[in-house]
Amino acid sequence: MSALIIISSITGNTWKVGEALNRVYPTTSLKRTTDVLKCTELLDQHNEVIVGFWCDKGGLPPDLAQLVPYIRNKSLGIFATMGGNPQSERAKDWFKRQCDAVVGSERGNRLEATFLCQGKINPVLIEQMKKMPGYKETPESVARRQEAAKHPNEQDYRAAAEAFRELLA
Ligand SMILES: Cc1cc2nc3c(=O)[nH]c(=O)nc-3n(C[C@H](O)[C@H](O)[C@H](O)COP(=O)(O)O)c2cc1C
Repeated sequence: MSALIIISSITGNTWKVGEALNRVYPTTSLKRTTDVLKCTELLDQHNEVIVGFWCDKGGLPPDLAQLVPYIRNKSLGIFATMGGNPQSERAKDWFKRQCDAVVGSERGNRLEATFLCQGKINPVLIEQMKKMPGYKETPESVARRQEAAKHPNEQDYRAAAEAFRELLA
């Protein structure tokens, strides 16, 4: 039974990581959360499931939140992309909380592997942020955005493939 990779992605970063995993492990099947929501029976055909999503204002994106109750009795790999620095304690904390929400405590899931990387922030969002009352650009925020603009990249794709090797190979 091959693994199912389910992706929630709005601007394409997380989808690219999913595509990279699908290239390295061609027996996997790559789907969007919205497609799986239309046909949740797809989940019945896979014991191993990878869930990839993006940081949406510090929470789970709504399409994934809607799918979570259907994710049951799986060996899970979870990854996310975010605009902020994935090495920061805040990011690690955020990611841990989202992983806990996806795994749940009473759905029989087992978390096997995780991966977190940065993803470029959509320019439209940056412009919107700049217009928000109280928004203040700092050298740190500019540097963070410039670093985010380099991701996800080949190195991230390799690191993701490595993180899920045992689950997908
Ligand atoms: C509406 C919106 C809200 C976001 N909120 C956050 C956030 O709270 N923290 C963060 O680090 N990045 C945030 N980001 C950046 C995204 O998480 C990041 O660009 C991610 O890689 C997008 O993934 P995608 O291209 O697969 O949609 C936000 C992006 C959008 C569009």
